[in-house]
Amino acid sequence: MLSTEIRKAYIDFFVERGHRQVPSIPLVPAGDPTLLFTSAGMVQFKPYFTGLATPPASRLTSIQKCFRATDLDEVGDTSHLTFFEMMGNFSVGEYFKREAIGWAWDFLTRVVGLPPQRLLITIYLDDEEAHDSWRELGVTEDRIVRYGEDVNYWFSGDTGPCGPDSEIYYDFGPQPDCGNCEPAHDGHLRYLEIWNLVFMMYFRHEDGTRSDLPARNIDTGAGLERISAVLQGTHDLYASDVFAPLIARIERLSGRSYGHDEAVDHAIRVVADHSRALTFLVADGVAPSNDGRGYVLRRVLRRAVYFGRGIG
Ligand code: SER
Repeated sequence: MLSTEIRKAYIDFFVERGHRQVPSIPLVPAGDPTLLFTSAGMVQFKPYFTGLATPPASRLTSIQKCFRATDLDEVGDTSHLTFFEMMGNFSVGEYFKREAIGWAWDFLTRVVGLPPQRLLITIYLDDEEAHDSWRELGVTEDRIVRYGEDVNYWFSGDTGPCGPDSEIYYDFGPQPDCGNCEPAHDGHLRYLEIWNLVFMMYFRHEDGTRSDLPARNIDTGAGLERISAVLQGTHDLYASDVFAPLIARIERLSGRSYGHDEAVDHAIRVVADHSRALTFLVADGVAPSNDGRGYVLRRVLRRAVYFGRGIG
């Protein structure tokens, strides 16, 4: 499936299940001093989760453009991006774990046709409700791995809504760089996280304490570029149709071709990711400067220029 088909299939699937589609918000979130950038699909829904605003519907779905500079130094490998599209379905105090897990499984295994035995699940330590929901779908015990807060807990910022989560990974099988590595081992080629289901139940305060949100919510995020790559038979996001035109353009500009030399490939990937991110950041009103958002943009631009010069 091409990325355009995946976007449509995702939205259709959740609209059929009673979700209202809402558009992506800009990369600069309005009125949220806790965030520099829109870094997840749930950002525009935070006031609904905290009870500060009433949602237009209790089931929502979106494809949100996101920017994250947290992995900046990782970008250049085959799986990290600064700019990406996150497909998501959300429940504001309505459905919870069982439905979110069941639909994610149905979408991946039936709608887009991933082999169930290739999927691996992580859950938060003692989350038996999530565990039992996966088991009911036929996921075997050996395909469910438990992690602590470092992996299976999602925070929307230093303060704000948070909760335990369950992640779905695609398993490419043993790879030369890592035979029996674990899903949470970042930087290896075997497992690629494709979807995160967050059970958004708590609010983290400035002093680190947590209190219950007014209701139990669902926040999910599926990476469009990652699912596209998996469905197109590659673990390299830059080999998917999402990046094909950009890679071709960089090849023409540099006179280098992708897929022959690891150092060149790395530089091509940096330029592809960063130029895409910069384009969307500038379009959403960010300009280079010495602090805040503008400084992040400047760092991304400098990094793109550095690697771009390296390939001529
Ligand atoms: N907020 C979660 C994430 O960004 C799921 O959407 O991973």
